[in-house]
Amino acid sequence: MMQSDLKELKKKVLIQKMPEHIAIIMDGNGRWAKERGLSRTAGHKEGMQRLKKIVKVVNDLGIKHLTVFAFSTENWKRPKKEVDFLMKLFHRAFDNEVEELHQSDVKIRVLGQIEGLPRNIKDKIDKVVEMTNKNKSLNLNIALNYGGRSEIIDAAKSLALKVKNGSIKLDDINEEKLGNELYTASIPDPQLLIRPSGEKRISNFLLWQSAYTEFWFTDTYWPDFDERELLEAIADYQERERRFGGLKEKDSR
Ligand code: FPP
Repeated sequence: MMQSDLKELKKKVLIQKMPEHIAIIMDGNGRWAKERGLSRTAGHKEGMQRLKKIVKVVNDLGIKHLTVFAFSTENWKRPKKEVDFLMKLFHRAFDNEVEELHQSDVKIRVLGQIEGLPRNIKDKIDKVVEMTNKNKSLNLNIALNYGGRSEIIDAAKSLALKVKNGSIKLDDINEEKLGNELYTASIPDPQLLIRPSGEKRISNFLLWQSAYTEFWFTDTYWPDFDERELLEAIADYQERERRFGGLKEKDSR
C-alpha cells in the first residue's frame, strides 16, 4: 500500500467512532524468527520493537485503552532458556522503555498473577505503575503471567470470602460485582480483539471481558503487524458497528 493510501485509511478511520479499548494477542514471534533462520529470542526482541510502534500509533489515534498479552500462565512450560530470555526482556523493557512512555503521558498497569513473577520484575512493576499512575493519555495494560480462567476463579474466591465474612449477601453477586474483582476492574471491556499469526482462538485471554468483543484475525506474524493493518482492523470494526449500531439502539428499548 502506498503512503497516500495509508493517509486516506487513517482519515477514514478518524472520522468514525473509535473503539475505546483494543486488546491484542501478540502471537507469531517464534515463527517470524524461524522463517528468517533466527532464534526464537530474536523474534521476541522484534516483537518488543513492534509493540513500541503500535503503542505510539494507538496513542496518536486517541484510543483510551490498549491491553496486550505478553506472557500467559501456560508460557512457563516453554524451554527454560526462552522463559529466562522473556523475563530479561520484560525487565529491560521496564527499565529502558518506560521513560519515553511516561513522557507521552501513558499510564501502565500490569494484569496477572504478579506475585508469581521473579522478585526483580515485581519490583520494577511497582516502580513503573507508581511512576505513570497519574498519566492521562493511553492506558497500557500488560497481561503478564495472565490466565483468564484463574482470574475468574480468584474473583469467585474473593466474592465467596466476602459472603462468608458477611460484607455482602449471596444475592448481591452480579456481573458488576464479579467484574470489580477482576484484574481489569474499572477498565471497560474491549470492543476489538486482534490476533495476528493465523490462530483463531482466544487462548485463555480476557475470557470474561470479551463476551461481546469483535474479533479480528490476520495471518501476519506480530513482528510484522504494522500501522496499516491496525487501521484495517479498526476500519473493519467500525463497519460492523455501523451495520448493527442503529438496529441495536432501536432494539434496546
Ligand atoms: C507469542 O509468540 C509471544 C510471546 C509469548 C511473547 C510476547 C512478548 C513480547 C512481544 C514482548 C513484549 C514486552 C513487554 C514489556 C510487554 P510465540 O512465541 O508464541 O510465537 P509462535 O507461536 O510463532 O511460536
